[in-house]
Amino acid sequence: MMLPKLKTLAIYALVFFPRFPMAIGADGALLYQQHCAVCHGASGDGGVGIPLNLPDFLAVASDDYFRETLRRGRPGRVMPAFPNLDDDQVNAIIEHIRSWSDQSRPDYPATPLNGKPERGEKLFTAHCVSCHGPEGHGGSGTGVTFSRPRGAPVMAPALDNPGFQASVSDAMMKATLLRGRRGTPMPSIEALGLKADDADDLVAYIRQLKSKPSKADEPPTESVIRLESAHDFEQTLENVKQAVIGRNFRIIREQLLEQGLAPEGQENKRQVMLYFCNFAFLNDALALDPRVGLFLPCRITVFETEQGVQVMSINPKNLSRLFNNQELDEACQKMQDMYQDIIEEATL
Ligand code: HEC
Ligand code: HEC
Repeated sequence: MMLPKLKTLAIYALVFFPRFPMAIGADGALLYQQHCAVCHGASGDGGVGIPLNLPDFLAVASDDYFRETLRRGRPGRVMPAFPNLDDDQVNAIIEHIRSWSDQSRPDYPATPLNGKPERGEKLFTAHCVSCHGPEGHGGSGTGVTFSRPRGAPVMAPALDNPGFQASVSDAMMKATLLRGRRGTPMPSIEALGLKADDADDLVAYIRQLKSKPSKADEPPTESVIRLESAHDFEQTLENVKQAVIGRNFRIIREQLLEQGLAPEGQENKRQVMLYFCNFAFLNDALALDPRVGLFLPCRITVFETEQGVQVMSINPKNLSRLFNNQELDEACQKMQDMYQDIIEEATL
């Protein structure tokens, strides 16, 4: 008979090649390490991104929620979209994340709930705004700095975010509220003294929230700020220093632009880069996004050309666009204004 033989073969295959089916498809563990671990941690413990390995999260997060989240990201909230991952790769990543917990995967009806948004708003103001911010804009910063203490709080995500709104079903939101997320500050509504029905009203209110369009949607600006000086080289450099110090910044170092590029002693002495910073500014920026290392310390270059003396800086706002972080965009806008002021003051 054929059957027992096939069965033996199947068992044989299972025993000796238990991971065989995985080997043909996308490697979820590898894809996760490549695309997610830097923010969500190697085993989903969280970091710049919130934890993904918590049983209370995996018990309520549907596969659709994951899929849509990866397709859309969270515009302006650091979490990128992954348009380049194909369906197999996305599914493999989801399976990898699911392997961290034995929670069964939930599936929700698409039917919306019928709560009362006006009542939900009152409940939200009383119980949720303290963490999720007014109108659900989300906690500020990523909660991660280089001096972050272990066990630092998990930042409350933005509930008004179009990426979140389009990914989550009413039923999943309600399940989240009923359960809370042990291992994060997110309480169950029962712990807040609310009843199961209150969740419907909260969901109805959250559905009405719409976030501001992201700065990332704005067209790119010039990549550098550059002005011609009315003064000679020495005077311009001195003016930049005074303007920097006048804004409570400390000059960290002054360096020839060609240092390390041209043979020692032969660098152009009329191309100087000035590095400056201040501690409060540095701390604020790091709290917004630990990747600000790219922008800091602040630097301005003064150089002489045949046409005259020029002063230049990068335009931080243009760099910030890479990071999908609206708060960072706003900080970089301020930085850009400051550069513009300093350079104008020094060159006029
Ligand atoms: C650059 C950092 C970054 C990367 C890379 C990143 N994420 Fe995120 N992710 C975040 C942040 C930050 C949030 C929270 C957004 C908020 O605060 O509103 C988030 C949220 C999420 C959520 C929603 C979680 C919840 O509790 O509802 C999921 C799911 C998620 N990310 C999965 C992934 C996966 C899978 C990858 C890799 C394919 C990934 N992320 C890559 C930063 C990142
Ligand atoms: C003490 C702070 C705190 C309070 C109060 C709080 N939350 Fe949260 N909430 C969080 C944190 C932190 C998370 C992210 C948990 C995680 O990492 O999985 C969260 C997650 C959520 C999520 C899931 C969002 C997502 O992207 O996964 C929803 C929905 C939510 N909260 C709604 C509410 C509502 C509605 C209230 C009021 C009834 C509330 N929260 C009260 C801190 C809080």
